[in-house]
Amino acid sequence: MRLDRSRSCKVVESSIRRQPKARFVYAGGFLVGDFDPYGKEASPKHRFGAEYYRKFYGKGGVHDRRKIAQLASAVHQMCAWWDVAPRSVLDVGAGLGLWRDWYRTNHPRVKVVSTDISEHACAKYGHEHRDIATWTPSRQFDLVICHGVLQYPDDAAATSAIANLAAACRNVMYLEVPTTLDFRTIVDPDATDMDVHRRSGDWYRKRLDPYFVQAGAGLWVRRGGGVLLYELERSR
Ligand SMILES: C[S@@+](CC[C@H](N)C(=O)[O-])C[C@H]1O[C@@H](n2cnc3c(N)ncnc32)[C@H](O)[C@@H]1O
Repeated sequence: MRLDRSRSCKVVESSIRRQPKARFVYAGGFLVGDFDPYGKEASPKHRFGAEYYRKFYGKGGVHDRRKIAQLASAVHQMCAWWDVAPRSVLDVGAGLGLWRDWYRTNHPRVKVVSTDISEHACAKYGHEHRDIATWTPSRQFDLVICHGVLQYPDDAAATSAIANLAAACRNVMYLEVPTTLDFRTIVDPDATDMDVHRRSGDWYRKRLDPYFVQAGAGLWVRRGGGVLLYELERSR
């Protein structure tokens, strides 16, 4: 996903109006219509095939190795600043494996496990095949990365995904997921997969709060873990 904060709201809003109508109708407790928690394609297998990665990670795509290097370096150094320099990392929904590759190059002694729900991505980029909504890791990792993933599962699956992320996280999680407000204001609809679930920031905060303290800039510190934040280091 690429965020283009330089675009005016007007441009973004006019693009939003071009979006297709909602596919779901809520009828007395049942969702009727073209129901699929992952979107209009039949299954994650079809949804996250080669074409998906070409479209969002090709030329002018979401982000690239250079941008991930900037982010990964900052996240790793913040962990080090908090005295929990990662020795183990879990990358959930790893896609092309850009985080995993950055760690291999820059911190080869760090053990990285990368996972994805996409059979294509797992075969091509070498991840473990896991759905974070249903897979509870049996061990913890110092740092968990969940970058641009939670907008795909439906509400129930995203809720259990958050519990599974918490089970996997010993110290710090890096989380990026666009909210309803982001889609209305700063997400570039031409470069971003818009066929996803839109939920409020409060929806996510309510489910993350039992497990994590929000530090800011995408960093979430595991409650009961090894990081203690000063009052003004955290968001609330
Ligand atoms: C927008 S891409 C992000 C890829 C990578 N994290 C990045 O930032 O470059 C979303 C990825 O999440 C994966 N994904 C979607 N739902 C998932 C789930 N329930 N469990 C694991 N991976 C999932 C998709 O297969 C896809 O590779």
